[in-house]
Amino acid sequence: MLRTHTCGELRLAHVNQTVTLAGWVQRTRDKGSLLWIDLRDRYGITQLFLEEGKSDPQLIAAARSLGREYVIRVTGKVSERISKNDKLATGEIEVKVEQLTVLNAAKTPPFTIEDETDGGDDLRMKYRYLDLRRTPVRESLQLRHKMAQQTRAYLDSLNFIEVETPVLIKSTPEGARDFVVPSRIHHGEFYALPQSPQTFKQLLMVSGFDRYYQIVKCFRDEDLRADRQPEFTQIDCEMAFITQEDVLSTFEGLIRHLFKSVKGIDLTSVPRMSYADAMTHYGSDKPDTRFDMKFVELNTVAKGKGFGVFDNAELVVGICASGCAEYTRKQLDELTEFVKRPQVGAKGLVYVQYKSDGTFKSSVDKFYGPDDLKQWADALHAKPGDLILILSGEKNATRKQLSELRLLMGERLGLRDKTKFSALWVLDFPLLEWSEETNRWHAMHHPFTSPKPEDMALLDSDPGAVRANAYDMVLNGTEIGGGSIRIHDRATQQLMFSKLGFSDEEARKQFGFLMDAFEFGAPPHGGIAFGFDRLCSLFGGAESIRDFIAFPKNNAGRDVMIDTPSTISEEQLKELGIQVRD
Ligand code: AMO
Repeated sequence: MLRTHTCGELRLAHVNQTVTLAGWVQRTRDKGSLLWIDLRDRYGITQLFLEEGKSDPQLIAAARSLGREYVIRVTGKVSERISKNDKLATGEIEVKVEQLTVLNAAKTPPFTIEDETDGGDDLRMKYRYLDLRRTPVRESLQLRHKMAQQTRAYLDSLNFIEVETPVLIKSTPEGARDFVVPSRIHHGEFYALPQSPQTFKQLLMVSGFDRYYQIVKCFRDEDLRADRQPEFTQIDCEMAFITQEDVLSTFEGLIRHLFKSVKGIDLTSVPRMSYADAMTHYGSDKPDTRFDMKFVELNTVAKGKGFGVFDNAELVVGICASGCAEYTRKQLDELTEFVKRPQVGAKGLVYVQYKSDGTFKSSVDKFYGPDDLKQWADALHAKPGDLILILSGEKNATRKQLSELRLLMGERLGLRDKTKFSALWVLDFPLLEWSEETNRWHAMHHPFTSPKPEDMALLDSDPGAVRANAYDMVLNGTEIGGGSIRIHDRATQQLMFSKLGFSDEEARKQFGFLMDAFEFGAPPHGGIAFGFDRLCSLFGGAESIRDFIAFPKNNAGRDVMIDTPSTISEEQLKELGIQVRD
């Protein structure tokens, strides 16, 4: 070994020992006769020390010539520091250098490799291997490692086995576009990278494995956001001979185990809410339940007073922002502008300030008197000092808009604290959703999800009302996992494909293998997949999943370090039988 200890290890107990360390020069401080070097490795930073008159002059000259990020190896004696640094685990000692070897020189890095860096996003991505030397980024990956380890420990203890499924597969329609890989041997034919191992894990149930999991890469060619990457990782799980209740309790157990073992947090049991209630009370299927601010529908108290906007609306709905009655005109205008942004899409915002003296001031004073406004305030449980914010219009759109405003107000009121955690199960999702784009029904989760038996009768008359045995786990307003109890017989699966607009021929071509398997003794089964990167970023208190992925893609889906996607040679194209047209 090139070292006896790591840079995070030495303490007062090591004083007078001769040690050898190796690492990167973080920084050198030259005070004339005294010279300090901060030596860094994955485990921490240790201060090295040289003194003119006491250290060998050649050694001092060598130390002076070190640049940032040089890789060195030093041998020396551990001694107690005169001025200690209580911010550093090794802050009570330093190493008096007796030998120094430069293992490799380094160019000046393009940004400072410290907790706070001057490097912008693009630069850090281009030199990701340098960014990974920074403690916060390294710690994010260490957290990820611990999460993976604890996930395996929990699932292993419950008899789940990890099985690898293929990466070169066939397209499965799960909402996003596939990444495809051309076949060299079969020109004109393509593999697809899996959006998830969904059909394979179901086949494993047919094979009798009964409890499967895999920490697995998935690929989706969709628009990127802070919580989405084109390749991401799932904790993918499936169980046979279970009810929905078994799946919920097993995976609630996983989340609680992770909170306990990784963060030392005792998560209370995870509450449950139906999809319908989530939409009514929060306007979202992934409500942030760290704070209340529930929607209150005001149709009965707000309609019929001559205010056309409300009178003609399908839904009038409000929230109460505690203690915000004294918002200035400017602040209120900002909120109006926020809801009118194209991403939110509301036409306008009605506000009522319930002043601390008990009077009301609203943007609709022309139409509503204090008695009307008091009725609204009562419905919303508003108190003097509160601000009521109301939107109206078509039901679903208005709920979505108010959900955005609720999140904004939650943020402003400091109610979305990253160190607080609130998990929730959302249950009973609709089986199908109508797509205006394709003019047909789509599976809301995926086509393998079973309908609730009691809703089967609605499949022809009112497909949108059929509920599925599908569930999501939500953490702090982010969907961290989703799953369902599956269809496990050919007839129902075939019926589902036909409802989704597949011809028998198409269904057979794409999913014949699964339907065939269902005829050879398929057990009842169901499962779930968690977004592992999302889970890690929430545990780490970060907005973006990027820092929890060693080598992520940027916002444009590029890896700017290795420079991909990139063109391939004419020769390769020819081999693949691909003709490029301009
Ligand atoms: P679903 O599509 O809901 O279900 O995906 C499961 C979870 O994966 C995470 N996720 C993502 N994370 C990062 N980047 C992305 N692009 C991305 N897309 C999804 C989310 C999501 O909750 N086969 C089913 C699971 C099942 O039914 O068992 C599936 O993939 O956190």
